Amino acid sequence: MKGIILAGGAGTRLYPASLPISKILLPVYDKPMIYYPLTTLLLAGVKEILIITNPDDYDNFRKLLGDGSQIGVKIEYAIQFVPRGIAESFIIGEEFIEDESVALILGDNIFHGPEFSTKLQNVIKNLNGATVFGYMVKDPQRFGVVEFDKNKKAISIEEKPQNPKSKYAVTGLYFYDNNVVRYAKELHPSKRGELEITDLNNIYLKKGSLNVEILDRGFAWLDTGTHQSLLQASNFIQSMELNTGTKIASIEETAYKMGYINKDQLLDLSKKYDKNEYGEYLKSIAD
Ligand code: DAU
Repeated sequence: MKGIILAGGAGTRLYPASLPISKILLPVYDKPMIYYPLTTLLLAGVKEILIITNPDDYDNFRKLLGDGSQIGVKIEYAIQFVPRGIAESFIIGEEFIEDESVALILGDNIFHGPEFSTKLQNVIKNLNGATVFGYMVKDPQRFGVVEFDKNKKAISIEEKPQNPKSKYAVTGLYFYDNNVVRYAKELHPSKRGELEITDLNNIYLKKGSLNVEILDRGFAWLDTGTHQSLLQASNFIQSMELNTGTKIASIEETAYKMGYINKDQLLDLSKKYDKNEYGEYLKSIAD
């Protein structure tokens, strides 16, 4: 299974804060936003990752994450020159994906919850077509919305419907078999000129091979789309971290716990942040 983080887009909703730098490099409390989706892929056991950026931020992402070898994974980069839609990820990533299945996560999606690693690894083990996640929200019209029948089977997905048929949003984490590349190429741009991820999911739905897993209320799926929600996400992470004395989405800690790097490598990484709180935390994990 390969992984893609879509980190392009203009981020205009957060201008001027995101004018000089990608929204996905802005901090969510104590680390850049991309650490959160990257951690999700690491927890899933995905070790070959493509980061799709806009042209302006390509160098910044490389500066932050390099080739991934420091955390025991392989990171490659590609550019999306124009934001032509989320589903374009599979066309841009075709050569990277080769003949494998692929997980896509949007760079601005933050997940946190119990047994997440096991849950994700089970999804990958049992993947048959596509798996997406439904999460109950109060404002479903802002998202892709999934409708269920009496037996909790998904029967429709609509992108930003004015009259949502349920309160379940489709989150920005998607798992697909290798057909996704072919299906993405069959899509036509929507009215807003984008290759819609919802259209792609509907192809799987029509073929009877879309599995929708519900993330229950024990999970946090945090929005970072507005200044207010970005601050709320930071506050949530801060409060969890202060209460537990642990860090959420430290890529170095996750790589160590997943066995991608050993103790010496973790100690080496901690030296990069010598005498700051992040470095001390990494050192304490290794110790
Ligand atoms: O977050 C989940 C939602 O993400 C889903 O429920 C929706 O079905 C899906 O369409 C998407 O909705 P958004 O309105 O959040 O999509 P947005 O255009 O804001 O893009 C999400 C992220 O992906 C954002 O960080 C920018 C990036 N992006 C987006 C597009 C369209 C790209 O890098 N390239 C693109 O072409």
